[in-house]
Amino acid sequence: MSDNPLAELTKNVLVCEACHLKDSRTKIVPGIYGPVNGLCIIGEAPGYYEDQQGIPFVGRSGKLLDKMLESIGLKRGEDVSILNVIKCRPTTDDGKNRTPTESELRFCGERWLFKQLKILAPKLVVSIGSISLKFFIPSATVTKYVGEAYDTDFGVKLFVTYHPAYILRNYNLLELYEDHFKKLKDIYDEVPSAEGIKSQKNKILGLHSEQKSLTDFFG
Ligand code: URA
Repeated sequence: MSDNPLAELTKNVLVCEACHLKDSRTKIVPGIYGPVNGLCIIGEAPGYYEDQQGIPFVGRSGKLLDKMLESIGLKRGEDVSILNVIKCRPTTDDGKNRTPTESELRFCGERWLFKQLKILAPKLVVSIGSISLKFFIPSATVTKYVGEAYDTDFGVKLFVTYHPAYILRNYNLLELYEDHFKKLKDIYDEVPSAEGIKSQKNKILGLHSEQKSLTDFFG
C-alpha cells in the first residue's frame, strides 16, 4: 500500500483510457484536494475551460462557486475538495458540452470518484446540481431534496444544492444559494470529527439494487 494513496490514485486517473470519453477530452480533470475529513463539493463533469486546463470549475460557474465558498470562509484546495463525478469532458459531435449519460456517470463515478471519497473520508459531501445528486441518490430530484442534508449509511452526510451554472441563469436565486452555503457550513461544523466513509455493506440512503456495484465497493 502506497504511503500517499491519493497521489497514487490520481496518477491512475491521469492515464485513464477506460471509456470513449478519452477520445473527446483534451485534459483529464481529477479534481482538487482539500484536507482529509473535510468538505467535498461534487459537480458533474468538466466543461470547455476545465478540459483545457485540467482543473475543475475554472469557468464562470467556478468563479461563483469560489465566491460562495469565500462567503463562508473557505477556499478551494485549502479547506475544500472540488471533484466531479466524471473526469473527462463529454461533448456533442460538434464539440459542445453535453450532459453525461447515466452509464458514463456510473462507470466513471464508481471507477474514480468513490475511490477518491474513500480516501478523503469527507465529513460532508455537497452535491451541486442534478447530475451529481442522481449519482448519489438515483431516485432524488434537486427540486425535492434541495437545501437539506441527508444521512447516508456509508458514514457521510450529503447536502444538496444547485449547480452554480443554474444560479447564473436564475440570478434571483442568489440569496437562497448564499443561505444554502451558510447552512452547509453550519452542518459541516457540527459533524463530529469524521470517521469518514466506513466499509459497510449498507446502502446509501435511497439507493436500490441498481447501485449494487457501488455498495459492493464499500462492502
Ligand atoms: N461544471 C461542473 O459540473 N464541473 C466543472 O468542473 C465545471 C463545470
